[in-house]
Amino acid sequence: MPTSKMKNPLIGVLALATLAYTYELQYGLYAPGFEQPVASDEFEIDKSPLFSLHRDLVNIESISNNEHNVGVFLESYLKDHNYTVERQYIDFIQSKKKNARFNLLAYPGSKRQTPVLLTSHIDTVPPFYPYTLREKENIWGRGSVDAKACVATQITALQQLLASNTISPNDVSLLYVVGEEVGGDGMHAVNDLQMKWDTVIFGEPTELKLASGHKGILVFSITAHGKAGHSGYPWLGKSANHMLISALAALQTMDLPSSEKYGNSTLNIGKINGGVAANVIAETAVADIGIRLAAGDPSVVKKSIQDTIKDIDSDIQVTFHGRGYGPVNLDHDIEGFDTMTVNYGTDVPNLDGKHKRYLYGPGNILVAHSDHEHLSTGDLMDAVEGYKRIIMAALKKDDEKTGL
Ligand SMILES: *[C@@H]1O[C@H](CO)[C@@H](O)[C@H](O)[C@H]1NC(C)=O
Ligand SMILES: *[C@@H]1O[C@H](CO)[C@@H](O)[C@H](O)[C@H]1NC(C)=O
Repeated sequence: MPTSKMKNPLIGVLALATLAYTYELQYGLYAPGFEQPVASDEFEIDKSPLFSLHRDLVNIESISNNEHNVGVFLESYLKDHNYTVERQYIDFIQSKKKNARFNLLAYPGSKRQTPVLLTSHIDTVPPFYPYTLREKENIWGRGSVDAKACVATQITALQQLLASNTISPNDVSLLYVVGEEVGGDGMHAVNDLQMKWDTVIFGEPTELKLASGHKGILVFSITAHGKAGHSGYPWLGKSANHMLISALAALQTMDLPSSEKYGNSTLNIGKINGGVAANVIAETAVADIGIRLAAGDPSVVKKSIQDTIKDIDSDIQVTFHGRGYGPVNLDHDIEGFDTMTVNYGTDVPNLDGKHKRYLYGPGNILVAHSDHEHLSTGDLMDAVEGYKRIIMAALKKDDEKTGL
């Protein structure tokens, strides 16, 4: 052994240790701003199947159009629990591609067609926030509420009812879809399966209440076509921006339907784009608008939007994105739940059929799309019980006998 290199090994060890210690002092073990994760055996939260399923789902980023990985995870989770699991690709041509998007249909028994269906969505809005546990009982992260809390609690509720032999394996199946946050392409595709359920239980955050309905929606753009020119000579051109402003002002004061159940319709001018510079007459201008409908038929509202715009200028065009839909009334005939109406859209109207429709889930919609999306561990556990009661009511099982 060459003794020269071994002369003083202690110095090397000491130097390394000092370096590591200085780094630790300066930065801590984690990058600045990163909250240190909770040790894995510290709380009950890490041991129960419900909390670990929820955590695994939240930790897989699945912003709309990127649901592949969470789909693969959920498929293998359900297969491990002895479900038969089918993928439904959204775009068949894409199905061979690496990141193909698919819905999952899973059933625990021998029958694919069950009377009751539990469903929710596996996509989230951007951006991604990882799972963190705060104050021992609050779970933060993107999708922790909307709607991975519903996915985890629905599966847990079904597992518990099966384990206790309270229901038969052919009573209830599961459907998890992609694309709910971007227009519902996942749920629209489910109509191609030609299946029929007596009752469909949709999972979205309803604060553990049974939703009695939600507002409708109508999304559209208005585009003004002007004529560009030097801003010193406005009479030589025609400003698309000026036209757009008049049109938007008219839309803001336009009469929209209201109802006792849902209150007023509301209009949101969400995005405006127009012109190129302060000294140029704007050639084009566009605004994207969404109306949350509290009553009425979207085709009637479309007509009054057209009429309002026509009165402003013939160089303004209206383009509707999709058919839109009016308010969606939901079944809420189960004892023991508070009820509420909600102002957001769901996949409920995207699924065809004459089934009964329930909407229920843990967490609050007001935090759902925010940077502080979170819910309590207690709400997660309560939602399992809530789903069990809805399932039992849907199957018309005798409450006294089952003790639920
Ligand atoms: C799945 O089924 C197999 C075979 O019947 C059984 O041994 C296993 O325990 C089941 N797994 C679960 C998670 O129920
Ligand atoms: C609906 O709009 C009317 C008129 O602006 C207002 O007086 C009323 O308070 C609104 N109702 C609700 C439920 O917001």
